[in-house]
Amino acid sequence: MELSGSSAIVTGGASGIGAAAARQLAAKGCTVVIADLNAEKGEALAEEIKGVFALVDVTNTEQIAAAVKAAAEIAPLKAVVNSAGIGWAQRTIGRDGTLESAANLEAFTKVIHINLIGTFDVVRQAATVMSTNEPDEDGCRGAIVNLASVAAFDGQIGQASYSASKGGIVGMTLPVARDLSASGIRLNTVAPGLIDTPIYGEGEASEAFKANLGKNVLFPKRLGTGDELASMVVECLTNSYMNAEVIRVDGGIRMPPK
Ligand code: NAI
Repeated sequence: MELSGSSAIVTGGASGIGAAAARQLAAKGCTVVIADLNAEKGEALAEEIKGVFALVDVTNTEQIAAAVKAAAEIAPLKAVVNSAGIGWAQRTIGRDGTLESAANLEAFTKVIHINLIGTFDVVRQAATVMSTNEPDEDGCRGAIVNLASVAAFDGQIGQASYSASKGGIVGMTLPVARDLSASGIRLNTVAPGLIDTPIYGEGEASEAFKANLGKNVLFPKRLGTGDELASMVVECLTNSYMNAEVIRVDGGIRMPPK
């Protein structure tokens, strides 16, 4: 699928994998709407890639609608990348036998709301607009990539909410792709392993943490880069025969319990 001359939306596009995807899409000739909570980083990147920043919290339906409208006004919206997400870790129960030390239900709900429901809301709103595009010679009107995680399959201790949110993204890949097929819209999911982004924080402690994480990777024994992930995201968007698939991009890692 040709993306040149179209618009794209990248949620979470101000940082990490989303920012790398936004840069690669801009290089393919897309005008990218960076939909993110972080206005400072989002606006700076929008200026760099001649895109547009839209202040979007993916738990806010109206803000998503405004970003989708802004994209479609620039050019036909043909590509969406859902990279907005947060991590959270807490064991399901504490060690002292009291409910007070059990997992915080509000935190669990927040992770599901941002990572899973937010992603689905962007998909349903963006695909609605995509469905009105002129189809290309293959009948394709657009393509979507959602970011899951290897934690959808090998969740670690404390990752109940994060793994549930990403497992939900994996689980909805096939049914949503089926729903969208009648409109000529493809949907795939990319499941990253350990990728060097600000999601692990910044500074000396997080550098040491990341160096330690890299030892568990099969090969190469390092964290992945945002560009390595974005390359797979862009392939899923542009390869007209990619649909309804979940792809791990993880250097072969299988996460241990902790
Ligand atoms: P990051 O922390 O570098 O970037 C995430 C972006 O999402 C940030 O710009 C943040 O402002 C934005 N964001 C957070 N909550 C939001 C909300 N409610 N509405 C709109 N924007 C929001 O993270 P990274 O590493 O680039 O992760 C991107 C995606 O890939 C996430 O969904 C993450 O769960 C997933 N992933 C990342 C892995 C990694 O090792 N970095 C591993 C597996 C999955």
